[in-house]
Order: sequence, then structure tokens, then C-alpha cells
Amino acid sequence: MKIIAGNSNRALAEEISKYLDVPLAKCQVRRFADQEIYIEIQENVRGEDVFVVQPTSYPANDHLMELLILIDALRRSSARRITAVVPYFGYARQDRKPGPRTPISAKLVANLITNAGADRVLTMDLHAGQIQGFFDIPTDNLYGAPVMTRDIKERFSSGNVMVVSPDVGGVVRARALAKRIEAPLAIVDKRRDKPGESEVMNIIGDVNGFDCILVDDIVDSGGTLCNAAEALLKSGAKSVTAYITHGVLSGGAVARISASKLKELVITDSIEPTAAINAAPNIRTLSVAPLLGEAINRIAQERSVSSLFF
Ligand code: R5P
Repeated sequence: MKIIAGNSNRALAEEISKYLDVPLAKCQVRRFADQEIYIEIQENVRGEDVFVVQPTSYPANDHLMELLILIDALRRSSARRITAVVPYFGYARQDRKPGPRTPISAKLVANLITNAGADRVLTMDLHAGQIQGFFDIPTDNLYGAPVMTRDIKERFSSGNVMVVSPDVGGVVRARALAKRIEAPLAIVDKRRDKPGESEVMNIIGDVNGFDCILVDDIVDSGGTLCNAAEALLKSGAKSVTAYITHGVLSGGAVARISASKLKELVITDSIEPTAAINAAPNIRTLSVAPLLGEAINRIAQERSVSSLFF
């Protein structure tokens, strides 16, 4: 087995390599003066089972292109099997046409990865499970829930926890976590009755006196999260903590979250945390390297991956 890291989350790739006790394969990713990407794999990969670790996080287009070129280089170097390990799959939110004459970019990205020469994909908490069907190659979509469940069980006393979905679209994900920790479920329902009118947040469920845990796949601007936290506290929640798999945290998100009423935001390292994230007093990162490492191990040995989640 060989593990190759692109530039988007080298720290995670190093942790995975430690878990598997397999050193990262030597590979150089360089730029020409005009920013074209040039890649050279500096060791033999002929006949190898190769895992390329490269979440397509910010800057999404550069990291995606790097992934495609890495896959192409491996295919032309006669790797036996290439698995694109994309813990955060960028463009996933564009998974349908929200209006006429709009793209389905998640499908385009799936086509690009497949056509570059990937044999399989390993990803995590896809924005929508159906995106697996955008690939005509085997795709394993891991769940961050076991990592979060462990942390929640260590920090919260059972009996007073309520899992909350910050929008109606996230109910399936939140319900799955609620089931794991045997907690009730509430939903934040955002409504804008007429265009131009401000959004009204209705809470479905009685959160009064509960320690609320907001669960989502992505925190980007932090708007969804901070608004939901405020609405929950107004409805009598004792505290609000958020567990979100992918800390996209663009623009002023870190500042917004630091200034919010959120007790804590817990993310994973599916995207490499920035220095600002690491310095934020109420943001904590859990590592998914052991989970990804174990999944890679099982894929390489042709063993069950789903049994990781029972
Ligand atoms: C949307 O459907 C996603 O699940 C997240 O709720 C959304 O991407 C979060 O975005 P933001 O942090 O910008 O509100």
C-alpha cells in the first residue's frame, strides 16, 4: 500500500500514515510561474494499491486540480488501484439544480475524479448521501458520528441532552446521532414567508432546560449555526454546543463564532484547521485520522468498512 498526500491537508495525511505505520510516498507538488501545477511521484508505484489524501477544501479549485493531476500521474505510473481519499468533498452543496440554467457541479466533480483515473473514492459525511451515486466507481462515505458520539459521551451527562438539527434538511443526520446517544431530537425550522421579510426561526420540540447539541455536515459562514444557537437559547435551552464534521469556516466565520453564544463548536480535521481556528477559544478539533486510517486498512485488505459503524 502507498499513501500520497497533496497539499490540502498534509497534517491529516501524516496522522493517517502514522496510524497505518506506512510512510508517506515521496511526491513533489510544484508550481510553474503561471501557477500551473506540476507533480512528480518520486518512488515506484507500479502495481501498488495507492491512496491519495486530498480534501478539496479552500482553495477548492486548486486542491481539486491537484487531486486530478495526482491521480493522472499515478495512473500513468501503473499504480494497480487508485483511491481518492477526499474527507471533505468540495462542491457537494451543488448537488441539484436549484433553478433553471444552473449546473450540478457535484456531479461534474465526480466525473472529473473518475475520468482522471480513480478506481474508488473514500469520503466522509457527504452533504447528501445520494452524491455517492454520482460516481460510477465504488464510493465509501464514512460517518464522523462515532468520533463525535465518543466525545459527547465523555462531556455530557445523559438525560439532559437534546440533539438539534439546525435546518429541516439535516434531520436525517441529526436523528442518527440522537439515536446513537439515546437523546431526543428537535429541529430549527427557518421560514421566510415573503421575499424581503426577515427569516423566522421556529423550534420544533421543547428545548427548555436542555443542553442542546447542534449537528450539521458543514459550517461555512457560521450564520446557520449562530442563528440557530440564538433561537435555542431564546427558547430556554440551558446551553448550545455544535458538532459539525467539516469546518469550512470561510471569511469572518471564526470571529462570528467566537463572538456568538455557542458554548463550543467541535469540528473534525477533515479540513486542515487554520491558525485562527486553533486559536479560537470556543472551537475544538477532533481527529478523524484513525477512522480514515482504519477504513483505508480495511479497503486494502478487502474487509468490511460498514462494520466500523455498528
Ligand atoms: C447546508 O445545507 C449545510 O448543511 C450547512 O447548514 C451550511 O452549509 C452551513 O453554512 P453557513 O455556515 O454558511 O450558514
